[in-house]
Amino acid sequence: MNNQRFPDSFLFGGAICAMQAEGGFDQGGRGLSNGDLRKKGLGTFNDFDINNEDRENTDDYSFRKGVNFYGRYKEYLAEMHELGLQCFRMSISWSRIFPNGDDEEPNEEGLKYYDDVFDELNRLGMEPFVTLSHFEIPLHLVQKYNGWMDRRVIGFYEKYCRTVFERYKGKVRYWITFNEINNVVSFPFWAIGLDIRDSKNPMQDMYQALHHLFVANALSIKALHEIDPAAKIGDMTSVSTIYAYSCNPDEVFEAFRQRRLKYFFIDMQAKGEYPYQMKRFFEENNVELKIEDGDLEILKNNTVDYITCSYYQSAVYKEGEALTSDTGGFRSKAKNPYLTATQWGWQIDPKGLRFVLNELYERYHLPIFISENGVGMIEKLDENNTVIDDYRIEYIRNHLKAVYEAIRDGVDVFGYTYWGPFDIVAASAGSMEKRYGFVFVDYDDYGNGSGKLFRKKSFDWYRHVIDTRGASLFED
Ligand code: BG6
Repeated sequence: MNNQRFPDSFLFGGAICAMQAEGGFDQGGRGLSNGDLRKKGLGTFNDFDINNEDRENTDDYSFRKGVNFYGRYKEYLAEMHELGLQCFRMSISWSRIFPNGDDEEPNEEGLKYYDDVFDELNRLGMEPFVTLSHFEIPLHLVQKYNGWMDRRVIGFYEKYCRTVFERYKGKVRYWITFNEINNVVSFPFWAIGLDIRDSKNPMQDMYQALHHLFVANALSIKALHEIDPAAKIGDMTSVSTIYAYSCNPDEVFEAFRQRRLKYFFIDMQAKGEYPYQMKRFFEENNVELKIEDGDLEILKNNTVDYITCSYYQSAVYKEGEALTSDTGGFRSKAKNPYLTATQWGWQIDPKGLRFVLNELYERYHLPIFISENGVGMIEKLDENNTVIDDYRIEYIRNHLKAVYEAIRDGVDVFGYTYWGPFDIVAASAGSMEKRYGFVFVDYDDYGNGSGKLFRKKSFDWYRHVIDTRGASLFED
């Protein structure tokens, strides 16, 4: 065995979220959330009616059933323990705790559910990393208050956070704020429940709502530090990087500018202030923020303890060819000729991960946790009831090697959670068609199927990576 190993303190894990895995949308006293309105299929991003409270139709809404992590969490976690995971990232569904968002009292059944899940994780020796809002907000807050547009939502969010921090003190040591909030730029409703389809100035409304969200976020950080000083909290941004297509200075600068717009979301949570370049950006986009007395101090005094990020792909900026985006971050119409792509057109770029980890560390000097990385494919069980997913093995091997190199570069990376260690509903496709798991879950988009779990080839491979602390990555 070679001596290329990850540090002993490095955590190997897996990540899911409530919206895509839990299901049970109408069980245990849970209220509706924005995610329950998301229809199946690509291209349904603007197809929603916030007053739709029809709970009968689950066929068009795959997220409502998920893969029933709600009912079957013990089986899934047992399988993850077999896989050897050291940590497990998941999210709490806000509307399971406060079904309407503005309720006086929390829903005890929801609180008890997560007690049981965290107890099980701790019993199995998997460190919980818990996201407070992974693309979710109670629907009632959107209907009644227009979501984050209304400052009162700050208080509702703070109350939710204080409730879960007090309840799970000692059980959860790592918290994560909002999942990939930079996706608000592309999908305001799905990222944070912001409906600006009829807005006269969408940029104004988006950044005003974000201002409220950042203040709420800082108050939640303050709350955690008061309630459980031993626990840590980090942010979460999709950092799939953007290169210039050529060395044309116009393209180089624009790629840099685009990357910096993405880092704005980290600046706000890690540095606690509006970065200097946003002044011009706001002027040019007719954004005039209403900032109340004390807001800037709250932001400045309450910043994250660590940074987390998702990384799936990289993009290139080519003049005249706009960047598009999906839940993996920005994608370019122009293709990088040096890279290959997945079935979904996401360009595979392990070196980009090393690049971005170095860039993040240089900017923020905070420990980094890779909260998502992985590859989703259309998969079917073969005659041996497995999937020979060599492409997944290659993808992870190369990305983990890049992480290893970044650690050698001096970057403080303390963990990695593979996205979707068992198949769950894909966010962008809104469907079970796109699968990421080491474990095949026999459900389709309608929740039909045996629900049985089948290990893919990558299962034993990843387990061996964890067992050898990464040394096996450099051998087979
Ligand atoms: C990230 C999200 O955008 O990427 C996850 O945080 C999502 O929720 C993941 O599932 C992969 O994207 P997709 O669309 O392939 O599921």
